[in-house]
Amino acid sequence: MTQAVSSSSSSAGSAAAAATAKAGSNAGLEGVVAAKSEICFIDGIAGRLVYRGYEIGDLVENTSFGEVAYLLWEGRLPNKQQFDQLKSDVAALMTLPEHVSKLLADLPAKMQPMDALRTACSALAAVDPDVNSNEPDANRRKAIRLTAQLPTIVTAFHRLRNGEKPIAPDPSLSIAANFLYMLNGKKPHETLTRVMDAALVLHAEHGMNASTFAARVTAATLADMHAAVTAALAALKGPLHGGANQDVMEMLLEAGKPETVEKTVEEMLNSGKKVPGFGHRVYKTFDPRATFLRKMSKQLGEAAKNTQWYEMSERIIPIVKRMKNKDPNVDFFSASAYYTMGIPLDLFTPIFAIARVTGWTAHIMEQHKNNRIIRPTDDYVGPMGLKVEPIEKRA
Ligand SMILES: CC(C)(COP(=O)(O)OP(=O)(O)OC[C@H]1O[C@@H](n2cnc3c(N)ncnc32)[C@H](O)[C@@H]1OP(=O)(O)O)[C@@H](O)C(=O)NCCC(=O)NCCS
Repeated sequence: MTQAVSSSSSSAGSAAAAATAKAGSNAGLEGVVAAKSEICFIDGIAGRLVYRGYEIGDLVENTSFGEVAYLLWEGRLPNKQQFDQLKSDVAALMTLPEHVSKLLADLPAKMQPMDALRTACSALAAVDPDVNSNEPDANRRKAIRLTAQLPTIVTAFHRLRNGEKPIAPDPSLSIAANFLYMLNGKKPHETLTRVMDAALVLHAEHGMNASTFAARVTAATLADMHAAVTAALAALKGPLHGGANQDVMEMLLEAGKPETVEKTVEEMLNSGKKVPGFGHRVYKTFDPRATFLRKMSKQLGEAAKNTQWYEMSERIIPIVKRMKNKDPNVDFFSASAYYTMGIPLDLFTPIFAIARVTGWTAHIMEQHKNNRIIRPTDDYVGPMGLKVEPIEKRA
């Protein structure tokens, strides 16, 4: 790893990294370049996000999640024939192996869906025909399989924990539509499918974030894709990363109504707490994904004739800006959008995973293609020169 020289890091981030590096420590590896990558470009000052050369706004408005998955894996958008092929491959692979369905049925209903997803993802390796190969073709097949299987795991576990039978995927539906169908048991309205698909596009990839780094560190030991995705799922769960979207909604629910939300947030900040859904390691401005999710949250609220959660979210923005100079990140408006769609709170982070598995697997393939084990060093500040005392003599 070297200090940032790449244009893909914000200059503010690089400056901060240089300062901390000089001081002899770089907590959080801020500004450190861990890999050369062709997958994602982020400009944290301008608030710009680019997948494989395409601006996120162009992708969210003019492509579907399936096309974006292909783009992340292959480096180019699919033509009609390639897209149809991918669609039918995914549709054929969404059904879970029997042992994973049984495992999900045996898991305690109180288990958190992110834990169930991580456990089931690991179990998928048992029967994956390519588990022992990290070759490009095998990795590509595994990326498609994992992308097809994760939505089935999340929805099956959710239904099982509520005492309901899982619903088999409908091969005629997209990943976004299938997710909603398998969750609720009825074909989703076109608008909801479009919003879910756009949310998946927005969450699909984001450079060297914590879960992607975890995936690349794992892949760099030449562990297989299932191992690396399981590690990524573990990292995504935390409230400083993917877990923040659930925390945002819990905060809104706790505040209760628009009139009290300002007080709730001010109290949080005055007592030294962080407001979930705000701040970002790379963006020093409005996260471009939040701009799209903001519109989606508003539209969904208007369609449902309940804009309360959207309005509360809007009221929070100026307070956090004034008191902490922080802007919303991707998790802020996804919370009110998903809640308005009727999605349970603890499925918010699993939805993030359903999207991000495409980015993780693209990074795992890139890592395996040009691998060197990722093994940084640390700055030892502990004691030296100690001598072992016999156990009976130790205090
Ligand atoms: C995203 C996040 C982990 C980035 O962390 P980071 O780059 O290490 O930044 P720091 O946590 O060191 O934040 C720098 C300063 O801003 C403050 N800050 C950062 N995010 C904040 C937030 N959401 N609310 C209030 N203050 C915040 C920190 O307290 C810190 O202040 P200090 O210098 O007075 O101690 C952090 O902003 C955060 O915890 N946000 C809330 C969780 C969240 O939404 N995560 C999803 C990210 S997509």
